[in-house]
Amino acid sequence: MPIQLKSGPEIAAMRVAGRLASEVLDYITPFVTPGITTGELDQLCHDYMVSVQGTIPAPLNYCPPGYKPYPKSICTSINHQVCHGVPGDRVLKSGDIVNLDITVIKDGFHGDTSRMFLVGEASIAAKRLCEITREAMWAGIKQVAPGKRLGDIGAAIQRLAEGAGYSIVREFCGHGIGRGFHEEPQVLHYGRAGTGLELKAGMTFTIEPMINAGRPEIKELADGWTIVTKDHSLSAQWEHTVLVTETGVEVLTLSEGSPDRERSANPS
Ligand code: MF3
Ligand code: CO
Ligand code: CO
Repeated sequence: MPIQLKSGPEIAAMRVAGRLASEVLDYITPFVTPGITTGELDQLCHDYMVSVQGTIPAPLNYCPPGYKPYPKSICTSINHQVCHGVPGDRVLKSGDIVNLDITVIKDGFHGDTSRMFLVGEASIAAKRLCEITREAMWAGIKQVAPGKRLGDIGAAIQRLAEGAGYSIVREFCGHGIGRGFHEEPQVLHYGRAGTGLELKAGMTFTIEPMINAGRPEIKELADGWTIVTKDHSLSAQWEHTVLVTETGVEVLTLSEGSPDRERSANPS
């Protein structure tokens, strides 16, 4: 099936969903401190989405083929957890790094975004991994424009991450997004420039590189969801939902508190 380009009203709805997803991260930021559990972060985000925003937490009961329903409203991936960490009784402690991944549905459209948080005092190595991963995401975002190709995004991310001595998780990728949580196309975080699908104005997709400090291999935990690095090295991820515009790119998952707000105004 060809990729559906979003029309004016659909783009307007995606802008709202994207901003709301980012606002959940703004809301939760002051709570991400030593002593809180990931389950408490989930509950706070859930209540904010449902009661304050009137959004639906897309992860809750999400059940792609071959999976069991996801039991929580957000993903919390700590240290060597790569993605899809399931909130629970785990207490955050100083020195942890944690990714909070938020996907909301508003008026039928999805917004999907994640950020890394340093809990208390993080090590220099952990900070560097988080910073380079954010740079890698932005290197990908900067490639987005009509006429460019998916391989341009992957190649830019790969170059930045591998150039810093890190490795890229291959098993998970960015994705088209809209009325569906995970739509076509798959947006790989590695690749060759000038190859792959040509970007067209009206496409909406995520860019969400998962970067490991050590080797790229991953494994799934017995909960059926949480993904960790096989070598237990640290892993980081940042995610935005973007729109291909007539002239370039618009980052849809921005808000007042987004650390990327200023940056997107001056993308280079
Ligand atoms: N938000 C994740 C993504 O970026 C997907 C999480 S699926 C869940 O694609 F079920 F684990 F929530
Ligand atoms: Co996503
Ligand atoms: Co996400």
